[in-house]
Amino acid sequence: MLLQKTLLSFFFFSLLLLVQSKHNHEVEEEEEVVTRSMFPDDFIFGVATSAYQIEGAYLEDGKSLNNWDVFTHHPGNTGRGENGDIADDHYHRYMEDIDKLEYLGVNAYRLSISWTRILPRGRFGEINPSGLMFYNNIIDNLLLKGIEPFVTIHHFDLPQELEDRYGGWLSPHMQEEYVYFAKLCFEKFGDRVKNWMTINEPNVFTQFAYMRGTFPPRRCSLPFGNCSAGNSDVEPLIAAHNMLIAHAKAVKLYRNHFQPKQGGIVGLTANAFHYEPYTNDEFSYQAVERSYAFNVDWIFDPLIYGNYPALMRKYLGKDLPKFSKEEVELLKGSIDFIGINHYSTFYALDCFNSNDCTSTENRAIGGYTGRAIARNGIPIGDEMGVFGFRIVPYGMEKLLNRLSLRYPNTSIYITENGYCPPNYQEGTELLQDFTRIKFHQTYLASMSKAMRKGAKVKGYFVWSFMDNFEWIQGYNITFGLYYVDRNTMKRTPRLSAKWFKDFIANGEKSSTISTF
Ligand code: NOJ
Repeated sequence: MLLQKTLLSFFFFSLLLLVQSKHNHEVEEEEEVVTRSMFPDDFIFGVATSAYQIEGAYLEDGKSLNNWDVFTHHPGNTGRGENGDIADDHYHRYMEDIDKLEYLGVNAYRLSISWTRILPRGRFGEINPSGLMFYNNIIDNLLLKGIEPFVTIHHFDLPQELEDRYGGWLSPHMQEEYVYFAKLCFEKFGDRVKNWMTINEPNVFTQFAYMRGTFPPRRCSLPFGNCSAGNSDVEPLIAAHNMLIAHAKAVKLYRNHFQPKQGGIVGLTANAFHYEPYTNDEFSYQAVERSYAFNVDWIFDPLIYGNYPALMRKYLGKDLPKFSKEEVELLKGSIDFIGINHYSTFYALDCFNSNDCTSTENRAIGGYTGRAIARNGIPIGDEMGVFGFRIVPYGMEKLLNRLSLRYPNTSIYITENGYCPPNYQEGTELLQDFTRIKFHQTYLASMSKAMRKGAKVKGYFVWSFMDNFEWIQGYNITFGLYYVDRNTMKRTPRLSAKWFKDFIANGEKSSTISTF
């Protein structure tokens, strides 16, 4: 009876989706079957999280305050005054969580290290043995279950002490601070961790922290945001510059002192949207190129070719920091793989030759391009919970094709891809997340198309393993394959968790809801 009901509701739901997308979208997706066997045997299928978003235990066992602990405790800084003090209480429940990873059948898990848990005061204090023990336990237990840890060293959280002393990433001193932290990670965990990401989304972090002023340390200037101090035109560029050099210095250290013995690989993860032209003219195509340059190539051109993209240099002139000769050499080829967090696609707006860019909210660094989510009143895809995110599966393929052309010899990992519903779900929708399943099926199909055309994609991580603290949007944004009850902390697999498990295990067979 229950099965019949589920099947019936799935049938009507799919019908509804089909009708809706026919009406709403300009570009229709082909229905595609996606199976595990379409990917190489050694392909990585994992799930991802980050320390501040799930760990909690914000002042336990020697951990000290980081920028997010302090920021979220100021009234008004996050949507509903929420913070990561407890988050998913993963600090106390990691064994239970690792069991759930095993249940999913993933061969990898992407996590990040909380800087203040192992170095409470950066270079200015002692190493915290309890912090090391916590991550050692996680790593060991993952490996026992055959799950490869993919470790991000720095995912948005940094010691408050460094924020206070230096103004965070605005200062070149952060380069040495970061290298000190990375070295400790390589030293203590590198015998078992073989896949590293130095930094998560420097392009997003710097825009939110120093251009729009919505992330700590809340710096920005008009018209991009209203902060007590900052300069939205130059500070995000300076902060990213320091992050890129910090990355390259840490990689040099890894390659010289750790890689030969430990044999791991190291990359960096950036956020990358795809951009479509807003109108069918030359200016719009140029706006697409500028959008890519100012958002994506900004990060990967230096790491692969040693310098910022020509378009950024042309438009930003003196505002764009310069790399010294030594830095160029240090940066060039400083990643073993490209890490991509991909969620959505936008129309690229030309802010020079059109009046399309009405809102500064949607402008990229420098303000030369903007982005829109609809054209002629027709949205580019169905809505998601994060502001501006839309479901556009074909964007995955186009993005990967472009990355493969620009960086032909570099492997790619999709380090995040995931769905959150536009409204907080209740009732049956809470666990029966058909839209999320469809999201992953269509994005995976799109990714596999790019791979057939030559994209060197080696792995795919779902964001996220479980619902967690979505930064300033808090706990109402739910990306999880697992639902987390905020009162009891109980984790319950959504239908998508079962679908992903089934997908990974099934090989040839396509995973449909009816197999549950
Ligand atoms: C990217 C970030 O790395 C992650 O922390 C965040 O939760 C997701 N995007 C979803 O917005």
